[in-house]
Amino acid sequence: MKIIQITDTHFVPPGRTLYNLDPAASLRRIVADINERHADADLVVITGDLANDGDEDAYRLLLDTLAPLPCEVRLLLGNHDDRGSFRRVFPDASVDSQGFIQSALTTPDGALRLLFLDSHEPETTGGKYCPARLGWLATELAKTPDVPAVIFIHHPPFDAGFAHFKHIGFHDPEPLMEVLRAHPAGIRHLFFGHIHISLSGITECGISYTSGRGASHQFIVEPKNPRPWWSAGTGPNYTVITQRGGGLRAMHVDTLDAQPLAQANECLGP
Ligand SMILES: [Fe+2]
Repeated sequence: MKIIQITDTHFVPPGRTLYNLDPAASLRRIVADINERHADADLVVITGDLANDGDEDAYRLLLDTLAPLPCEVRLLLGNHDDRGSFRRVFPDASVDSQGFIQSALTTPDGALRLLFLDSHEPETTGGKYCPARLGWLATELAKTPDVPAVIFIHHPPFDAGFAHFKHIGFHDPEPLMEVLRAHPAGIRHLFFGHIHISLSGITECGISYTSGRGASHQFIVEPKNPRPWWSAGTGPNYTVITQRGGGLRAMHVDTLDAQPLAQANECLGP
């Protein structure tokens, strides 16, 4: 299965820009690149902060911009989003019985269970995961106790190590981590956004993770600076996740035109 992760699109209403960038133009570039190089993708996941101010005009522009994608798209919410506005523009989005934007699916080969979590809390920049959402997650994990799970969520449920996110990371992540740790088959990997910086690692309890960098604006990496600078970074980007059985690999892709310097030889070994 081929999954594309895009994150933090931060759409604004038509005609507006954000940090001198046009988030819709960034996503159009990403969509075109996916269609050109990864038209065989099975699923596109956007891990939250879909719209910068949660307004319906921005969500409608997002809907139009995603239209050329040939595969299913799952949208998650981040702190910048508005659940009500989102649901009015995307009435067919997968929701749980409580109205949270949460869903699950099993990979076609049955090897992994993919879980898409909603860590958005109104008026809160950091992530939250309330008892109602925990109940949904525990129920979903219990349906397939023998199948390892992969988590997609906006906020990383652990300390990512950046001063800017010290107070806006994940509020009280322990109940969520407790449910994840209790899954008999284990959590194979966790994909998230929120930090606008490329990060990979493994939690103290042994869950490996990868972040997306942000589809439009990214942080200049200054871990100790509580006020780091926004930049265009490496430009519009996305992550290609290839799954086979219980294995995953994540490849970060930049869409800016690179200046070719020399063509490499085809290396046939040894
Ligand atoms: Fe964001």
